[in-house]
This record gives sequence, structure tokens and C-alpha cells, in this order.
Amino acid sequence: MAAGVESFKNIETVALVVDEAKADFKLQPIVLDEVRGDEVLIEMKYSGICHTDIVLQQGLLPLCDFPAVFGHEGAGIIRAIGKDVKNKELKVGDAALLSFNHCGTCTACVGDHPAYCHTHALVNHNAVRLSDRSTPARRPNGEAVRSQYFGQSSFSKMSVVNEKCVVKCPNPDRMDIYAPFGCGVQTGAGTVLNVLKPTKDESLVIFGIGTVGISALMAAKHIGAGQIIAVDIVDAKLQLAKELGATAVVNSKEQPDTVAAIKALTNGKGAKYTIDCTGLLPVIQTMVDCLQPEGTAAVVGVPPPDAKISIDPLMFLLDNKKLIGVIEGDSNPSDFIPKLIQLHQDGHFPIEKICKTYPVDKLADAIHDLHTGAVTKPVIDWG
Ligand SMILES: NC(=O)c1ccc[n+]([C@@H]2O[C@H](COP(=O)([O-])OP(=O)(O)OC[C@H]3O[C@@H](n4cnc5c(N)ncnc54)[C@H](O)[C@@H]3O)[C@@H](O)[C@H]2O)c1
Ligand SMILES: [Zn+2]
Ligand SMILES: [Zn+2]
Repeated sequence: MAAGVESFKNIETVALVVDEAKADFKLQPIVLDEVRGDEVLIEMKYSGICHTDIVLQQGLLPLCDFPAVFGHEGAGIIRAIGKDVKNKELKVGDAALLSFNHCGTCTACVGDHPAYCHTHALVNHNAVRLSDRSTPARRPNGEAVRSQYFGQSSFSKMSVVNEKCVVKCPNPDRMDIYAPFGCGVQTGAGTVLNVLKPTKDESLVIFGIGTVGISALMAAKHIGAGQIIAVDIVDAKLQLAKELGATAVVNSKEQPDTVAAIKALTNGKGAKYTIDCTGLLPVIQTMVDCLQPEGTAAVVGVPPPDAKISIDPLMFLLDNKKLIGVIEGDSNPSDFIPKLIQLHQDGHFPIEKICKTYPVDKLADAIHDLHTGAVTKPVIDWG
């Protein structure tokens, strides 16, 4: 057992608990039972708010029982390390970023595609331990609270997280902007850098310039994609997209025939690559309809569970088009997040332009600003 772990039982803390679908995130006392052998205790400093946290809180992806603590872009300090933790570089007192969980043994994990872990839904969205489906947190009255969302439930002052979520943070002074690397940033950047890899002769259209979309855009600019077209309904988002390297922007509210607008911008051909970062069905349909022959459309935004779009299979066959889904940018966080941090430190990834911190008691303002588009990436500051 690592130093100090024995004393880490029945830890009293506070977390933003959601009591039931659509209920507010409410700061409430919880108790963390213990730090198991493969777990790490984190004192949270910052938690990015991802659109998916809102999807879950609204009950739109019914994978997790309530009450639950969400949050999957945590950043904090390691306070205890379980005796079986394999990463011997982790030390008590280290700054850590938290990313998604995975089993480490299925063919996807062994093949270095942990985002496609066969237990992804269970260990991430179901918010329980893989070993016995228990959860570390309970209310003071004993009622269980789901608290391993993405293995981390980082909307909590202290959290017991699975060791596979933990990535050492090389620059503890900027955990406020590196927290979102655990999900939104690596998802957008990885979709471009690990999966689509557009070249200088190719076009890429990004629908939805939130954290995921703008991260995809920054990555595309960094690798020199030929044409980068940003689509959104908020002018401020499109302005930022231009500043960060979009070669053209389309406000789809003002130009409802977005397919025609994209075709006009791509010499009538359509785009080689399209990415949906909204999760909205009509937008996913539009991104498919914008493809050129041999083009690839990537579903990244999370659509509602029963959503359907129409594709013409014959045209997909004759034109060799592809429709793919990408989870977490197909990245391996322990390799990819340090690479993104290096890109930021080298000036290629100006993530500070989208982040704004809010004290935890201003969470309602943070969510409001996310909805209106006033801020792209709100980050909770645990103070
Ligand atoms: N696949 C994954 O692994 C993964 C990971 C993280 C997030 N997500 C999902 O990706 C999506 C984006 O997440 P985010 O955190 O960037 O969200 P966000 O709310 O920050 O961004 C969404 C953007 O879409 C824009 N938008 C809304 N309606 C639009 C429309 N009709 N046309 C064009 N743009 C429109 C908004 O103005 C906003 O800029 C969400 O669905 C989220 O759940 C998926
Ligand atoms: Zn996310
Ligand atoms: Zn796995």
C-alpha cells in the first residue's frame, strides 16, 4: 500500500450531484468509501465542462443511474495512490490531468485504441467500477452516488479515480487551460491528427465551433490542411474560427442551404472531409450531403439514441464515401495529451483563447454562457 493510503477511507467532501435527470447540478456533501489498489485520490483544482456532461444531466443519453456526479475533464493534485497502480511515475503531490477510462485488456486497448475499449460505455458513461460495478461515493445517509463517470467524476472537490484516467501534467501552473485536454480538446484535435489527417490539397468542413470543433480547427491549421471551412450559427464563434485559421466560414442560420454554400466554396465538388461537432441530426445529414466522391464524414457530436439520417447506399458504394464515428479523437491520452501540451507551449495551439474559469458557486453562469455561446470552454475553479 502506498504511503498514506490506509488513512484515506470515508473521506468527506462536496460534489456537484445531479439528483435525477434534468435536475440542477447541486453542491452537496458526499463520502468517498476508500481508495482501492488500482485507484488514485485526486484533489480537484479545475474541471472543464463538456457538452456531454449536459447531455447526461438532461437524461438524453440514459446510460447512468442517478444520483450521479458528472465531469470528465478534471485536473488536480494526487493525494493518494493505490498499492497496485502500475504507473510508477505517479507520486503523491503531482499535478494530474484526467481523461477517459478503459479496460486495458480488450483487443481495442491492446491495439492502442483505448477510446474504442469494448467496455467504453460501462466504464465511462455507466459511472461505476469495472471490477464489481460499485461506486466510491455515497451520501451521508448511505445512498450510493455514481461517481466514476469517465472513471473520474471530476465535478467533485475530491474524487477517487481509476488509474487509467490519470495523465501526469508537465505544467502544473496551467491546469486551468489543460483540464479540457482530457476530453473536448483531444477529441477535436485527435479526429484531425489521428484519424482524418487532411493534407494541403484537401478540404475539411467542421460543423459546430465549440471546444471540439475549434480544437479540430487548430489541429487542421497546424498540419496545414488546404481548406478549412467552419460552420456555426453564432457569429462570435465564426469570428474566432477565422482568427485561428479558417479559410472560410458559413453561418448556417443565415445561409440555410449550407450544402450549396459548401459546394460553392469547394469548386462545386464538395468536401473531402466533414466533421460534425454538434450532435444535431439535421447537421449530421448536411455534413453527409456535403461530401465529395471518396470523402469521409466523421460523426463526433453525440446524437440522440434513436436518431436516423438518410444515406444513399448506392452513391456511397459508387463514390467510395465513408461515414465513420470517432470517439475521443481515437487517442491514447497518456501519449497524446503531452503532445498537445507541447504544441500549446510551442505556440501552435492557443487554447487559452477559448477557456474561462468560474468559481464553483457560479456554475449556473458557466452553463448559461456555454448555452449562449458567450464562452466556448467554461472551467470550474475549485478554489
Ligand atoms: N465523440 C466524442 O468522443 C465526443 C467527445 C466530446 C464531446 N462530444 C460531443 O461533441 C459535441 C460538441 O461538444 P462541445 O463540447 O464542443 O459542444 P459545444 O456546445 O461547446 O459546441 C457546439 C457548437 O455547435 C454550434 N451549433 C449549434 N447548433 C448548430 C447548428 N445548427 N449548426 C452549426 N453549429 C451549431 C454551437 O453554436 C456551438 O458552437 C457534443 O455533442 C458533445 O456531446 C463527443
Ligand atoms: Zn466530453
Ligand atoms: Zn478495453
